[in-house]
Amino acid sequence: MQFEVYAKGLATLSVDCIVLGVYEDGEMSEEAAAVDSASSGLLKKLLGRGDFSGRSGETLLITDIPGISASRALLTGLGTRKNFGRKLWRRSLASALTAVLRTRIASIAVAVERPPGKELDDYYFGRAVAEIVGSSLYRVNDLKTGKKPKTPALQKVLAGPVKKSGIEAAERGLEHGEAVAAAAALQRDLANLPANVCTPSYLADQAKALGKQHSSLRVQVLDEAAIKKEKMGCLLAVARGSTQPPRFIVIEHKPAKSAGDPVVLVGKGVTFDTGGISLKDPPNMDEMKFDMSGSAAVLACLSLVARLKLPLRVVGLIAAVENMPAGNAVKPGDIETSAAGLTVEILNTDAEGRLILCDALHYARRFEPGAVVDIATLTGACVVALGHHHSGCMGNDQDLVGELVAAGVRADDRAWQLPLTDEYADQLKSNFADFANVGGRDGGAITAGAFLAKFTQGLKWAHLDVAGTAYQGGAQKGSTGRPTPLLADFLIRRAGR
Ligand code: BES
Ligand code: MN
Ligand code: ZN
Repeated sequence: MQFEVYAKGLATLSVDCIVLGVYEDGEMSEEAAAVDSASSGLLKKLLGRGDFSGRSGETLLITDIPGISASRALLTGLGTRKNFGRKLWRRSLASALTAVLRTRIASIAVAVERPPGKELDDYYFGRAVAEIVGSSLYRVNDLKTGKKPKTPALQKVLAGPVKKSGIEAAERGLEHGEAVAAAAALQRDLANLPANVCTPSYLADQAKALGKQHSSLRVQVLDEAAIKKEKMGCLLAVARGSTQPPRFIVIEHKPAKSAGDPVVLVGKGVTFDTGGISLKDPPNMDEMKFDMSGSAAVLACLSLVARLKLPLRVVGLIAAVENMPAGNAVKPGDIETSAAGLTVEILNTDAEGRLILCDALHYARRFEPGAVVDIATLTGACVVALGHHHSGCMGNDQDLVGELVAAGVRADDRAWQLPLTDEYADQLKSNFADFANVGGRDGGAITAGAFLAKFTQGLKWAHLDVAGTAYQGGAQKGSTGRPTPLLADFLIRRAGR
């Protein structure tokens, strides 16, 4: 896709289609009004007939408008002016793109009025346009054998109008937005794959392939023997019941110039979670192929930092295992020793994410990181608490948690902080080991965080529970690509870009 910024002269842009916003009461945006006067009142006439409501989500394609160079215009509903903000702006653009992609339109100028004030500055405008175009173009990587749908005609997107002083920022936004969309698509492709394809070894191969693509990336894969040497007893306990051997993936972005301590991203890579001996109920168990979404987000972020050549050291750590029941599988009540030397009573084999993460978080120490962020589809309890709109965020460093929550707001990929105070750790007490891997039903998302906190003392650490946000069920079942936009914003800011 070719992205460009335009400054003015919408009526004379040589594109196939211009995309214009119209409010619900028929009020035209500034750009729509300009097209209206160029066409001697054509839009006003059309709106006067009541053919277009301006409601959010509605679009109308009109052709052969006199007075403008483009052969078509697409009206997209902005809703009411009083409610109009960044969210409705995003929706109006997404609806417009859905409509555009159904046609053979090859080039568009996005002239959808922006919300007033500072809600969408030139940089985030560019970034949002490229991100929305990218996600609209995403098609699920299905394994259907029928005819593949035609590749979309869209080749070129102009975004504007942007004042001269803002063009550089908007162009940078477009570049970053394109990278975020590509990264999110990588996450989605990996997570959408079935678990018989996407195994721990497959994830390791994908990491190696990424390393070949970018010279700044260095990839190292620990096999079972190397994992044993690291004494990752908890990770190995989870992997034991599977015929798929575990992998521990280290992927480092080492830019030529970088300042500050590295950021370590740790991803939960359970390529399938049956629950193990604490077997899950059959309904929706297929969705547990998405239980490696955290690790896919880590790979996505490393591809992004490499592509944008961010002057920031970033290390990705991925604990990749399959959680299966078997004769030799870990059993409830088994006690294992983590890499940190702490013993864990595994009361529930379905609480496997924290077991692989505790060993990965311990491994993070050797990088002397400035920040450690783990990303995991960790608990159903987080979905109960926050639903599918916010990821859960908690940690031991309020500045870092605040940074992530703020990044989520800017990226429209929000997270909500849960209170990780001392009391929750009491629920993890065990009579037989240093602690248990579960703390009962109450506050389950937080007791999972409290477990991880035992292994991150002295580190600046935050945890993102994306169980409710990384994928969706229902008719549109599939990976959402979250929280890659949030993490991308966090990393880009940390790199000072
Ligand atoms: N992968 C699941 C969490 C999950 C549940 C993700 C639903 C997405 C949707 C995790 O490994 C798990 O099974 N957690 C248990 C923990 C419990 C045993 C303490 C859960 O949430 O039920
Ligand atoms: Mn589980
Ligand atoms: Zn799991």
